[in-house]
Amino acid sequence: MAKQKTLYICQNCGAQHLKWQGKCSSCNEWNSLVEELVDARIKSSGPAISIGIGNVPQPIHEIESASERRLATPDGEINRVLGGGIVDGSVSLLGGEPGIGKSTLLLQLALQLHPAKILYVSGEESAHQIKMRAQRIPFTNDNLFVVSETRLERIVEFNKTMEPDVIVIDSIQTVHTDALESAPGSVSQVRETAAKLIRLAKEQNVPIFLVGHITKEGSLAGPKVLEHMVDTVLTFEGDRHNNYRVVRTNKNRFGSTMEIGIYEMLADGLREVSNPSEIFLSESDEHFSGVAIAATMEGNRPLLVETQALVTPQAYGTPQRSATGFDLRRLSMLLAVLEKRCGFKMGVKDVFINMAGGLRVEDPAVDLSLICAVISSLHDLPIPPLTVFAAEVGLSGEIRAVNRIENRIAEAEKLGFTTIYVASGQAQSLSKKYTNIRVVGAGKLEEVFRTVFGAG
Ligand code: TYD
Ligand code: MG
Repeated sequence: MAKQKTLYICQNCGAQHLKWQGKCSSCNEWNSLVEELVDARIKSSGPAISIGIGNVPQPIHEIESASERRLATPDGEINRVLGGGIVDGSVSLLGGEPGIGKSTLLLQLALQLHPAKILYVSGEESAHQIKMRAQRIPFTNDNLFVVSETRLERIVEFNKTMEPDVIVIDSIQTVHTDALESAPGSVSQVRETAAKLIRLAKEQNVPIFLVGHITKEGSLAGPKVLEHMVDTVLTFEGDRHNNYRVVRTNKNRFGSTMEIGIYEMLADGLREVSNPSEIFLSESDEHFSGVAIAATMEGNRPLLVETQALVTPQAYGTPQRSATGFDLRRLSMLLAVLEKRCGFKMGVKDVFINMAGGLRVEDPAVDLSLICAVISSLHDLPIPPLTVFAAEVGLSGEIRAVNRIENRIAEAEKLGFTTIYVASGQAQSLSKKYTNIRVVGAGKLEEVFRTVFGAG
């Protein structure tokens, strides 16, 4: 019998090492090497896509332009994150924590795609379990074929006999090929099976959705190379204690990566949320201190988000800072600006920040709103009702311009807000006069505090 060879493979970058070592010398990740069996006779299946072997270089103007064919789905949010529908022969990876709703999303999509023929392969659930799930979702597709299978060779066979329009693989970590002896979910298996599936997608022009698991550190399990290999990387996120779910595009060869799709998880599947601003604002009419509304942009969509702050006297030796849905380092930076530039004693306060609705916000335009929420909580002074903020705050306490300000103002106006604070330069250069909303320009934080709270 041939001697079995083992290699140590980095679970982070996929690099192969002959000996175990604490740190991968390729990507510098600690403790990421795992021993895997490698059958020496089997060579990797080579490049995933053969896009014309034997071609010669051509002048670009002589190359025929072909626009990709897209299958527009009935799900507006999926269309949005994919850049306008499912591109023929494209491979999309959907990552997310366990239980967040990845299987539900793809099953619901498969049902909605009626009459397209779908092959839904699950390595995690039996056909009965999938049927039970499908019964909760109010769509039907007689052309949806479900199979519980983990062998890649069988999946390829099913594709040949069935010729589906779309394939869903739930999940790539459960699929394994006989060509390798390592366990399903190991880096070499994931890489090899994904490469074969991608080749199948390109050769047969059939779009494939792969579900990917997330490690406890929050990255897609399996080598980083997986993200490089596929055309589109989507992540499904949300708070488990909250029904809202967000699909984010992290990579898209066929569209923008700034888009998000928003859903609400109900007892009968996921519902598209077409007016997101309403859900991220709380419904109460009372005006509490520590609450401010920010006009943010998520992709091309303006989104009004409620920023909440709680400032209390420091309870322990070191001040506590906690942020949900917001970058903690950016919060520390904003608090340092308040301390140094505006003279507030933040060093003796505990500060807690929350973005309502469980949304994670990265748009710097929330800075001003967040700072106003902090000051509002600090002095227990509510912010006047129907006020919105849209500006970044710089290190010297200056109010900075943000992109697409007119979209933000228009959204705030549409939702009935009457005042919006923006950077002074931007207030002057607006191309349009707003009649229902007052646009207030400010250059420094003090100016905002003076008008919002009446005193500095
Ligand atoms: P699931 O799609 O199994 O998550 P993943 O594939 O990402 O692990 O989602 C499971 C959760 O969704 C589960 O806790 C039950 C809930 N759910 C609903 O609330 N409504 C539904 O209609 C369905 C099918 C699931
Ligand atoms: Mg699942």
